[in-house]
Amino acid sequence: MKIKILLATLAMFVSATHAATNAPAFPQADLMRIGVYYYPEAWPSNQWARDIGNIKKLNMEFVHMGEFAWAFMEPTEGKFDFAWLDRNIQLCADQGLKVVLCTPSPAPPVWLSEKHPEILMVDAEGRTMLHGTRQQASWSSEVYRKYVGKIVEELGKRYGNDPRVWGWQLDNELSHYGKEPSYDDASQKKFRAWLKNKYGTIDKLNEAWGDAFWSQMYQNFDQIRLPNSKELLAQVNEHAELDAQRWFADEAADYLRFQTGILRKYCGNRQWITSNFMHMFGAVNPALNGNDFEIVTWTHYPAHGNLNEGPLGFRLGGAAEMSFSHDFHRSINGFEGLMELQPGQVNWGDVNPQPYPGAIHLWIMRAFAAGAKIVCTYRYREPLFGPEQYHYGLVGTDGVTPTTGGEQYQQAAQEIAMLRTHLQPDAKEPAAYAARRTALLYNVESRWDIDDHKQTVRWDTMEHILKQYRALKELGCPVDVITEDKDFNKYPFLVVPAVQLVDEKLVQRWKDYAEQGGNLIITCRTGQKDRHGHLWEGPWAAPILDLIGAKIKFYDTIPAPYSGNVNADGKTFNWMSWAEILEPAAGTTVVATHADQFYAGKPAAVTRKLGKGTVTYIGVDSTDGDLEAQLIRDVFTRAGVPVENLADGFLVDWRDGFWVATNFTEKNQPAPIPPGAKILIGSRDVPTAGVTVWQEE
Ligand code: GAL
Repeated sequence: MKIKILLATLAMFVSATHAATNAPAFPQADLMRIGVYYYPEAWPSNQWARDIGNIKKLNMEFVHMGEFAWAFMEPTEGKFDFAWLDRNIQLCADQGLKVVLCTPSPAPPVWLSEKHPEILMVDAEGRTMLHGTRQQASWSSEVYRKYVGKIVEELGKRYGNDPRVWGWQLDNELSHYGKEPSYDDASQKKFRAWLKNKYGTIDKLNEAWGDAFWSQMYQNFDQIRLPNSKELLAQVNEHAELDAQRWFADEAADYLRFQTGILRKYCGNRQWITSNFMHMFGAVNPALNGNDFEIVTWTHYPAHGNLNEGPLGFRLGGAAEMSFSHDFHRSINGFEGLMELQPGQVNWGDVNPQPYPGAIHLWIMRAFAAGAKIVCTYRYREPLFGPEQYHYGLVGTDGVTPTTGGEQYQQAAQEIAMLRTHLQPDAKEPAAYAARRTALLYNVESRWDIDDHKQTVRWDTMEHILKQYRALKELGCPVDVITEDKDFNKYPFLVVPAVQLVDEKLVQRWKDYAEQGGNLIITCRTGQKDRHGHLWEGPWAAPILDLIGAKIKFYDTIPAPYSGNVNADGKTFNWMSWAEILEPAAGTTVVATHADQFYAGKPAAVTRKLGKGTVTYIGVDSTDGDLEAQLIRDVFTRAGVPVENLADGFLVDWRDGFWVATNFTEKNQPAPIPPGAKILIGSRDVPTAGVTVWQEE
């Protein structure tokens, strides 16, 4: 019975993987292309030919240009100058390098802010940003959009049909770098229009925002402003906050769609379009542009001394968060890449240590393992002036000598070229690997809503999600981090981590998934609120109780320095942030029990069969994620699916016929290479920062 279900799920799955390989811009034969940022406008023109020639010598395959160059493209209003760009594009073409062009919208020229100060961004304190930095304009301003539209139109006309230009990046890291949103008048107006469109009447808005409390009642939409703690001084209404977050993400996506629409008129689908989203930055939602872009790209600076995993994390970066981001961006439309990847030391961390020897090569190959189609590094030359002094490039301050990062980029580019010669285009994903394929449901709105009202400072939503992700990678699972619009039924396993905001329809889809044979794993804080962020009138987490086969009697949080413990499988696991106390219904099995507190002996996690599948509910956020790791492993064991036993931080994935092992741990790790396999890169014993690639017979 179990085997039958497994085979059926496998068959479903094999037909669903890597539809991506058909897209003309990213043929499978290319595997992954590697390139670099170059800012010709910032270097003497007599060095351009030398620099671009040297980029080629480093085995780069494309050059990224024009991102912040508005003042050079349109030095005065309506007067365009592309001669410098033409020349650089031709220099690239002469070297056989592809070109990625950018829209320069993140850096408006001074004449524009001078003529139209109303385009400038306003922060929460009411301060207007002035010219003299970058990303100082509000993309909600119609005036600003008009000017952006003009320069994008000019670029489209000139290069949209140019075979030397491979693709486009729109804007840069859409955000206000932590100062979201902009509180300028145009943004206020657009937020109100968004609300009116969503709610229709002010009564509906008052209801959704719970405005009956504290006489917050609005009489019309014009009375509403973006919630701003600096203006309100007291508590911000959570429901208003959640809508403001939704509006901001929608507005950012709309701005990118606006630019895409202009370029498309000229480039059709001959050139690809993307934007470079920031690694796991919560305020914008790349999934909203999944249908606008051929590829979703993102930026990643793994080692900068702030908040990294493990004792070597500040040199190696965090394996789980890096891998999670790949799996998230790829799952949006099947194509992902890194538009910026750290080439060496950076300048903007609290401290900026040297990456571990080999780390840069490791990150490039992790991108390869995850299925990335492009990796581009920021930047070619180390700047001699400006706010990014001390930031490494592929070459150092002399402009010609490769840095250690430059050498590692070259090494990776040569390796990818070698792997292309080994590609077996029809290689099938190994069955045992496909059997472990897991979807992890990521809902950014739930992340916002929990973070807006955490109930305990010891809770970290992203970290909770990563705990489940780490557990899956230790089992050697291929993971797709999916959004709700995706089909769950393709996956033998589905993990739902703290998806707080639900509706009946979503819960019904989970039920159907399990009934049809899927293994559903749900973690604490799921299903506790409706889409407005209201608690249910009924028992706690009412809509999911039938599904999980248990009631949630209550939850607990514990202040530092105290913590609680849970027993499962004969072991004890610690928790500090969140624990639920469950009451199972008949037919539900308890798989973890509280070990202490006044509820010692009460259930903390449960599992049950449902139709042809299973549902497991883990009601505790354990300190190290080891409880979740244990219980998730048990789900695979009960389902009869063989798993790996990989160290946390040692990641092994399969892509296009190649197995890739990447080691982010402090110890050598044995790669799970079967006899008869051919090692193409590295060794069976993978050292710290090492990479091993092999092909099975
Ligand atoms: C990125 C940004 C780049 C550059 C880089 C420096 O976040 O997109 O423009 O500033 O950081 O590390």
